[in-house]
Amino acid sequence: MRVPIIAGNWKMHKTVGEALALVRELIPLVAQEEAVEVVVCPPFTALYAVARALGGTKVGLGAQNLFWEEEGAFTGEISPLMLKEVGVKYVIVGHSERRAYQRESDEEVAKKLKAAFQNGLNPILCVGEHLAEREAGQAEAVVAAQLKADLALLGADEVEKLVIAYEPIWAIGTGRSAEPGDAAQMAAFIRREVGRAFGERAAEMLRIQYGGSVTPANSRAFLTQEGIDGALVGGASLKAESFAAIVASAKK
Ligand code: PGA
Repeated sequence: MRVPIIAGNWKMHKTVGEALALVRELIPLVAQEEAVEVVVCPPFTALYAVARALGGTKVGLGAQNLFWEEEGAFTGEISPLMLKEVGVKYVIVGHSERRAYQRESDEEVAKKLKAAFQNGLNPILCVGEHLAEREAGQAEAVVAAQLKADLALLGADEVEKLVIAYEPIWAIGTGRSAEPGDAAQMAAFIRREVGRAFGERAAEMLRIQYGGSVTPANSRAFLTQEGIDGALVGGASLKAESFAAIVASAKK
């Protein structure tokens, strides 16, 4: 049985003070949700403080990126060891904003996924197509190519623990979400591709999220789709009430 996972990607929002205010408001709202895994991904500067505020609660901590080496002369980077030490459990890898603005390649994404697993972090891998690619009927081919390259260094024992967020790029931060049926179709496609490459067990255990303009108004339509096991939420995760409403909508 796959436990639904709702993760909030705060992106470059929230100072330490704002982050603490948000989690303090959020904790009592989601504390009762036994059957849903809840994760928040603050910016690096707030991780330590948020980890302390979350201690002993059921809300998990995630980071938004990592570097693949454990230490060294890599100015500006953050290692998996450093994340682990402050209590991070999940890490978003290959978000489309990093692929676009930081020119993050599939090869780098693959190294980051491997480094996360080697250090006991659970990655949330983001994949998804551009609008022109969807309109050209290329969405599945694009996602298949991303999966092939991004998962290249992993074994089935790792892939079964993976979370993959299907995030069509045109749906991120635009208020224009995908059709729930289209998202479910892509989730099924991703599971088939993973099954072909890593076997049935990995495909069955892998959790697949939908991401892209998820709100309390549309979340249930996604989360009740066969094969969609959660959501990666940007904008609507920045307010405790809307994020908690999305968490509540994930209950089976
Ligand atoms: P959004 O972002 O919910 O604001 O569309 C989702 C994401 O980028 O993970």
